Amino acid sequence: MKHWDQFLAPYKQAVEELKVKLKGMRGQFEMDSSNSPIEFVTGRVKPIASILDKANNKGIALDKLEEEMQDIAGLRMMCQFVDDIHGVVSLLRNRNDFEIVEERNYISNKKVSGYRSYHVVIRYPVQTIHGEKKILAEIQIRTLAMNFWATIEHSLNYKYKGAFPQDIKLRLKRAAEAAFRLDEEMSLIRGEIQEAQAFFTRKKDQKQEDQN
Ligand code: GTP
Ligand code: MG
Repeated sequence: MKHWDQFLAPYKQAVEELKVKLKGMRGQFEMDSSNSPIEFVTGRVKPIASILDKANNKGIALDKLEEEMQDIAGLRMMCQFVDDIHGVVSLLRNRNDFEIVEERNYISNKKVSGYRSYHVVIRYPVQTIHGEKKILAEIQIRTLAMNFWATIEHSLNYKYKGAFPQDIKLRLKRAAEAAFRLDEEMSLIRGEIQEAQAFFTRKKDQKQEDQN
């Protein structure tokens, strides 16, 4: 439908631009040969069916989507360690190419589902042939363990439409606790891990130089 194409166009552009920008942050850490707090970045525009479902569930009128649906454009930044998340959030706060409109800390306040992540909602200016258009986008910052859990829970949610059987619910709770403990354990040996990773990066760089 032409109307949807037109509506989603600035969101698509924003996601593409933000992917380049946020991945660029990782590249900059690598260039400084310092351990990057960003492991990888993904982005997506919410599918039309999901937009309609969510609008329906939340009672959002379709002519209010722009202001009331914050995650039509969505980005994710994955970190190895919980402590990296706060560093990444400060980097985002210091940028001048968007404005932060809201932060939601589901790490210190995890959801009852067991979900953990740090959400930053931004207002991002997209340049169009008709002038500047500001759109809302949601950046979720999480560890690899948080991402693993959320991805699986999301698929199961889809399968069971939110109505989990009791045993699955219990397993998911336990898996969330295991993911939490995994993050804690990794934090305790962070120094060791980063030393090893820096060593392998140096070796890789050396090989590269030898080949040139
Ligand atoms: P949504 O309707 O889910 O957007 O809730 P909200 O508007 O209150 O925003 P919130 O910050 O709670 O959640 C936004 C996004 O976070 C969702 O679209 C999901 O990507 C993610 N999220 C939130 N809660 C959960 C959860 O329990 N499980 C999973 N897998 N993801 C979640
Ligand atoms: Mg939301």
